[in-house]
Order: sequence, then structure tokens, then C-alpha cells
Amino acid sequence: PLKHSQEIGAWAADYIVKKINSFNPTADRPFVLGLPTGSSPLVMYQQLIKRYQAGLVSFKHVVTFNMDEYVGIPEDHPQSYHTFMFQNFFNHIDIDKSNIHILNGNATDIVKECEDYEEKIKSYGKIDLFIGGVGQDGHIAFNEPGSSLRSRTRIKTLTEDTRIANSRFFDNDISQVPQYALTIGVGTLMDAKEVMLLISGHNKALALQQAVEGAVNHLWTVTALQMHAKSLVVCDEASTEEL
Ligand code: GLP
Repeated sequence: PLKHSQEIGAWAADYIVKKINSFNPTADRPFVLGLPTGSSPLVMYQQLIKRYQAGLVSFKHVVTFNMDEYVGIPEDHPQSYHTFMFQNFFNHIDIDKSNIHILNGNATDIVKECEDYEEKIKSYGKIDLFIGGVGQDGHIAFNEPGSSLRSRTRIKTLTEDTRIANSRFFDNDISQVPQYALTIGVGTLMDAKEVMLLISGHNKALALQQAVEGAVNHLWTVTALQMHAKSLVVCDEASTEEL
């Protein structure tokens, strides 16, 4: 464990830069990166931008897939995951916009949108590195407690706990928090070649304990990663207090 969330972000950024550079991506052979939103990865994005500005890494041949997106708010809503990603990351790096993939929570045909997303991922083979945060209840992406551990990209109803936790971004008013989201499935995540989780703070201690020491089960969907061949947890001391 590292001391602070600042250190987690810097460590994660270094790790990603190392991965991209040793892969040496080209237009024909891009590096495929899965990305999260939320407060946990914020420092990581800042640190990646710094490394890009210092000439240590290029995202020209990096393809990205985001984990999830709300349903029922416009794409340009200040709290949409589209807005989050462009403001906090994509607008500041040399990524080709056509290499960015984020689920469209306003698609008229939701089922098709989710199927197409899975197909698009498959067209690149596998995601090389998927980065995730975790909810206090152990959800990964928006795979709420009770999600099948083999689930694929689909629409999920958000739990009341998640909506309360995320209401801090919606004027602390739960009625403004969307009720549904599109999310990659646990199965989608498990297909990635490698998964890196960023976990910090006392409020995530139980989720980290379940992730590492709990039995694999669908009520704490993060526990599925115990079955993954290559998963890594980057955490701070505060989040380890239940271990
Ligand atoms: C949301 C996201 C998750 C994220 C979680 C924790 O539910 N869909 O992907 O991991 O929030 O967010 P935070 O990092 O802000 O605690």
C-alpha cells in the first residue's frame, strides 16, 4: 500500500506509461486501454497528462474503452462520463478522437448499443490493460451487487446506495442522479489481459477486504478478479484497515 491517493495516481501513471512504451504501439497494432471515471482515477489522469506533456508517452496509437455511462442525461451534461473523460483527460493528450469509445447512454436501441460495444472491443482482440475503481459496496464499473459474474455490456439499474454515493456530484440531490447506466459486464472485464484497480480511503476498506479476502461471489462483484490471471490492486494505507 502507498501512503496517499496522490501516490496511487503517480504509481498508476508510471505503470501505464511503462506498459504503453514497452508495447510500442503502431496504427496497425494499437495499445487498448480500458478506463474508469470517478474520483479514484483523477490524480492518475493528471499524472498521465504531465507525462505526456514531458514527452514521456504518446497516446497516438492508444485505443480506449470506457467502463460505463449514465442513461438519461445528455452527453454534454457536466456529470456525464463523456464530459468527465474529455475534461479530465482526452482534451489534454494527443489521442485520435476516433480511437475513443464511450457507451452512449442516449442510444435509441440500448441492446444494440451494448452488443456493438462488445463487438468493437472484440475487433481489437483483447483489452491490454483495464483500469478500474471500486464502489463502497464492491461494485466494479456499474456491476451492482447481484450482477452475474459472467455478465456482458448491458443496462443496469443503479442501487440506492450507489445513487446516494454519487449524489455528491449532483448537488447532493439524489433525485438528480440517473436511475440507470450502461456498463461493461464482469465477464467483459475478466476478458482483459490485465486489470489494475485503484482503491483509496477508509470508506473503501470493506470493499478492498472483500476484493482480496472475501469469497468470490456476485454480491461483491469485484471479488471476480480473484479468478483473473493478472490483476493488480494499487491502494493506500487507509483502505487496508480491514485486511
Ligand atoms: C461509480 C463508477 C465506478 C467507480 C465508483 C467509485 O459507481 N461507475 O466505476 O469505481 O463510482 O467512484 P469513486 O472513485 O468516486 O469512489
